[in-house]
Amino acid sequence: MCGIVGYIGSREVSSVLVDGLKRLEYRGYDSCGVAIIDEGKPRIIRSVGRIGRLEEKIKDTNPTKGSVKCGIGHTRWATHGRPSETNSHPHRDCTGRFYVAHNGIIENYLYLKHRLIAQGHKFTTETDTEVLPHLIEVYYDGDLEQAVRRAVRDVEGVYGIVVVSTEGTGQKIVAARNGPPLVVGVGSGENFVASDVPALLPYTREVVFLNDGEIAVIGSDGVQIKNSRGECMCRPAETITWTADMAEKEGYAHFMLKEIHEQPRAIRDTLRGCIGADATIALGAELGDAEILDRFDRLHILAMGTSLNAAHVGKFLIESIARVPTEVENASEFRYRDPIVGPKSLVIGISQSGETADTLAAMKEARDKGAFLLSICNVVGSQAARQSDAVLYTHAGPEIGVASTKAFTTQLTALYLLALKLAEARHTLPKHEIERHVRRLRDLPDQISKILDQGQGIAALADRFWRYRNFLYLGRGIHYPIAMEGALKLKEVSYIHAEGYPAGEMKHGPIALIDAEMPVFVLAPQDAVYRKTMGNMEEVKVRDGIVIAVATEGDHEIAEKADYTIYIPQADPLINPMLSTIPLQLFAYHIALLRGCDVDKPRNLAKSVTVE
Ligand code: AGP
Repeated sequence: MCGIVGYIGSREVSSVLVDGLKRLEYRGYDSCGVAIIDEGKPRIIRSVGRIGRLEEKIKDTNPTKGSVKCGIGHTRWATHGRPSETNSHPHRDCTGRFYVAHNGIIENYLYLKHRLIAQGHKFTTETDTEVLPHLIEVYYDGDLEQAVRRAVRDVEGVYGIVVVSTEGTGQKIVAARNGPPLVVGVGSGENFVASDVPALLPYTREVVFLNDGEIAVIGSDGVQIKNSRGECMCRPAETITWTADMAEKEGYAHFMLKEIHEQPRAIRDTLRGCIGADATIALGAELGDAEILDRFDRLHILAMGTSLNAAHVGKFLIESIARVPTEVENASEFRYRDPIVGPKSLVIGISQSGETADTLAAMKEARDKGAFLLSICNVVGSQAARQSDAVLYTHAGPEIGVASTKAFTTQLTALYLLALKLAEARHTLPKHEIERHVRRLRDLPDQISKILDQGQGIAALADRFWRYRNFLYLGRGIHYPIAMEGALKLKEVSYIHAEGYPAGEMKHGPIALIDAEMPVFVLAPQDAVYRKTMGNMEEVKVRDGIVIAVATEGDHEIAEKADYTIYIPQADPLINPMLSTIPLQLFAYHIALLRGCDVDKPRNLAKSVTVE
């Protein structure tokens, strides 16, 4: 949820911190702050609202003087304590010697707070985090690392923390992780730490991901990673393939628009390396062995939000292509019902960030019951990837817009590849059929480009509809999850109420909502259920509903019946969902723009939901 940065080196520390926070702002944006230690003196600047306001405040302060500059910063998504300057991080102890920025939740904070108050500590905020600097104050006996180690031992819950202190001669940042991610960026004569890689990209692509239970002691001339017993963990840095440009808007007005337009490239990158010259599917060594893939009698897909919608499409793809029974589960519900999984289950966690707490907890539950864990993930080295037996990366590149777009279509691509791999291993499709599917996947990026070319038409449609207050999205079969995703996109970026339904469910209740004030998206590309969906569309029309159809190019019949029609190229029914989702993303974007919403950072949301 929240974003953390830390820097130690010779650059102007406030600029590095502000730049890093801006690059992490998608993680939380209700308040922010920095703590800088300059020649042993603390300088704390905090602000409610966006990073821009903090930057303005920092401009009014003097540059730091010391040769080694050290500081930490935080952008907040509030859990305990409402957004306010007082509650914004970094938080301090009673003496003003220790400063902590925290991402996560300290579950036993009330118990710790009362204990510390009884010992005479004074608390000034409503946050759970504030117990940490006070605990460090209690345990400090000249060694900051030891004090942090002892403090986190008292804590129940999850945390990624960075700590700086005015104490001691050598400046350093101590970082500790249990749950929310932390990644150390390794530079030359300078080092960095952040919640996520985009904050590091302008400075270094050499990184070390902290594991749970580890502590990093970060100086300007070196980094030590230690386990919970204090033993050094010698891990070489990994080189990240993402570049700084990939995390920039590159001329687009918003990240969301850029990321929608990146989908042809992102899908090509996801396919690259996964398809051999003779149309064999190569998904890495762990999934290379046909015997492994043949041993499962059931698949479970676990995910949240947009990734959950991808999972529902994945069920269709896998059951239709590979004929393996597949269950899709909302990850937040999975572990609370003693799920039936075991060694013959392949459990797939889908997560763009690889950080979603609900998905990670559900994956862990499955693993504890003996399942084989596969994650479909976009962020290299994320927690989901690291706790899995196998990983299928989506190569979407950094997704900064809070509303997921390119992550979704690349997840569908990865699921399609997985379905083909399972079919190959379990002999459910002849070779020429697999080749046919592969050709269709290869055509997909160009087909998406054709839809993106209709951007102006979709913007004009948005202009017609931006004042409406409710929308329905209807789809059948593989298009039901696309209806859900279309509705989710609209609600999250434009704050318009929208619901996705299976078209057949309409008559069982939602039809009561239909009147001239209710625009209805009907997803009706030509496939086996086309006629049925057309029937549902008629039911909306005769009740004065306004129909916007998403249909296959050349379908004139639907255009005569619908009020508005958006065409997608002719394609195989299993490819259609990847196409029909594109106009829905563009529509949501343009509606949000017209309503003056903050498209990339919608209210109340954060990109990575690292608390349950
Ligand atoms: C998508 O637009 C949402 N912001 C959200 O539903 C997201 O898909 C969900 O939180 C899951 O995230 P993940 O893919 O990183 O696990």
